Amino acid sequence: MFKRFRDRRLDEETRARYRETLIMKEDLIWPVFIVEGASKTIAIPSMPGVYRYSLDTLLPKLEEYISLGLTSILLFGVPEQKGIEQAYAGDGLVQTAVRAIKQSFPSLEVITDVCLCSYTEDGHCHIGDNDSTCELLARIAVSHAQAGVDIVAPSDMMDGRVHYIKKALLDENFNKTKILSYSAKYASSFYGPFREAADCVPKNGDRKTYQMDICNVQEAMEEISADIEEGADQIMVKPALAYLDIIYRAKQSFKAPIVAYNVSGEYAMLNSAVQNGVLAPDVIWESMIAIKRAGADRIVSYHVPYLLEKL
Ligand code: PBG
Repeated sequence: MFKRFRDRRLDEETRARYRETLIMKEDLIWPVFIVEGASKTIAIPSMPGVYRYSLDTLLPKLEEYISLGLTSILLFGVPEQKGIEQAYAGDGLVQTAVRAIKQSFPSLEVITDVCLCSYTEDGHCHIGDNDSTCELLARIAVSHAQAGVDIVAPSDMMDGRVHYIKKALLDENFNKTKILSYSAKYASSFYGPFREAADCVPKNGDRKTYQMDICNVQEAMEEISADIEEGADQIMVKPALAYLDIIYRAKQSFKAPIVAYNVSGEYAMLNSAVQNGVLAPDVIWESMIAIKRAGADRIVSYHVPYLLEKL
């Protein structure tokens, strides 16, 4: 006697019935870079197929992708001039974009990245002191909430920032604005292309004094648990593909929704292999399935337009 597993693999219809992991359109979050000015669609050389948009070119793009099933975006502001005041200005780049996007597409979920690195002169995510940085981050988060954002996503890795942000949001009566915390964010070399896109390459040193050491696992669980205690509604593991073990453990240990960030370097790597004909495009789908199978509830990825078309 032996079991006939191959009966489940006969044809696509049968395989679909036995499939254990699914990706839905609602699982996908598209990262968007917004720049000042008009009529801009600026290519990012290290990430072919990914662009920085001005608001007027972004809105029709969103409309196109919403018709394919896009339900959520993660917004990054790339200001022309450096200066931290712009990060929390009521009429700043991100705040203006959030207002316009929510007005045009009320049911699109808008998440904003909350960080200083595109605004500081030195390209770091802090201004030197941990706690004063947290106060600034809270101010940025409140300005995004005032613009109508659904979720704020702090990506700086300062200690206590979720506590500061939650308190500031509640003080201003934004009790519906959610926090997606980049809890387990590693000091990864996979962020290289993003830093070109967001103009936030650190001018000196690296981010290893605040982002996590790539060798640590237990510490990621401590970071996640601290963020949940401080008031995070959802937690992020970043990067994704080289950190599937962290996603898996986070899923086993916590009830909060887990978002995995399939980062710029991961996109660039797969995209170039596909473009060069080294790998078949199906590797993209396979990689997204791997992230979900590991335990991610949702995925942030530059592949989202491609994935929506596939779905
Ligand atoms: C900002 C931020 C970074 C990313 C998201 N938010 C860069 C960094 O921390 O250096 C990386 C995203 C990606 O690589 O796609 N702090």
